Amino acid sequence: MAQILPISDPDTLAWATDVLRRGDVVALPTETVYGLAADATNPQAIAAIYEAKARPSFNPLIAHVSDMEMAKAHVSFSPLAERLADAFWPGALTLVLPLSDTTGIHSLATAGLATAAIRMPEGFARELIAAFGQPLAAPSANRSGRVSPTSARHVADDLGDRISLILDGGRCRIGVESTILAVEGERLRLLRPGGVPAEEIEDMIGRAVDRPAAVSDGGAVIAPGMLASHYAPSAPVRLNASEARPGEALIRFGGLPLRGADQAAAIMDLSASGDLREAAANLFDMLKQADATGATGIAVAPVPRHGLGEAINDRLSRAAAPRD
Ligand code: TXA
Ligand code: MG
Repeated sequence: MAQILPISDPDTLAWATDVLRRGDVVALPTETVYGLAADATNPQAIAAIYEAKARPSFNPLIAHVSDMEMAKAHVSFSPLAERLADAFWPGALTLVLPLSDTTGIHSLATAGLATAAIRMPEGFARELIAAFGQPLAAPSANRSGRVSPTSARHVADDLGDRISLILDGGRCRIGVESTILAVEGERLRLLRPGGVPAEEIEDMIGRAVDRPAAVSDGGAVIAPGMLASHYAPSAPVRLNASEARPGEALIRFGGLPLRGADQAAAIMDLSASGDLREAAANLFDMLKQADATGATGIAVAPVPRHGLGEAINDRLSRAAAPRD
């Protein structure tokens, strides 16, 4: 079983850096979700991520950097990309940018694309990357197709028998994955709504970003590997529920009572006060809790679509999408 080390332990940073130098994977906390990290320049290390996640290897990974100098060694920044990085890094925004000629990010991490998805996380993750000195490739630390982990316990439940080290930083502050934005000249395409509300980006640049139809529908594949059915609990998920059916677990929002709640297998509220930030931070944990009750299904009340609600509704519609 994986060893779990708290990030507050003074030896953890040096220990994790050694594990990464050996080409092994480390599960680590970020402000969005836990990541399964390895040296983005080392093909064996990247292969170990795909293997632990059982992820189809055509799905490219995000490269995480600690500073702009490291970022610029691997991708090229247009003036617009640089403004976005200035405004939102470190933070929950991933930029898809052209690879530079000198990049050391291995093609196994980019799935052979001419672009890389790149992000500068906050806090401990950033310190670890700085200490390691190279970008870390890190998808969310869950088995492919499962709900992303927002605590070390979630990671241990899902991957504990497949990896050797989990760094425990408590619950993730944001709780949904980063926003992915492709920067193509002056054009910005929202590939995945996430922890930085698209509205904040639009306010900063003073115009709308493109939302490919598939993003607004929460449907088809746009970022390679963004499968419609994703983040899937084992119980079927029913959205915009106005009542609970017998045997279902009920996930409410904003403290609003729903009919049939007395017959529900469990009742939770994403945020009793209707705070979308609190709801995002609770989302994956509550989906897992609802699933663990053994309920016949999971009924979820409507969640507003503004701000972080765009990312929350995206993840919910994937959790509810038909399964293969
Ligand atoms: O918050 C996050 O983004 C977390 C933490 C660990 O940083 N990471 C994460 O990674 O969610 P992952 O691998 O689960 O999702 C990355 C997404 C995938 O859907 C992938 O297809 C897309 O990014 N992606 C990666 N490189 C891309 C590229 N060059 N062009 C378009 N999409 C890309
Ligand atoms: Mg993922």
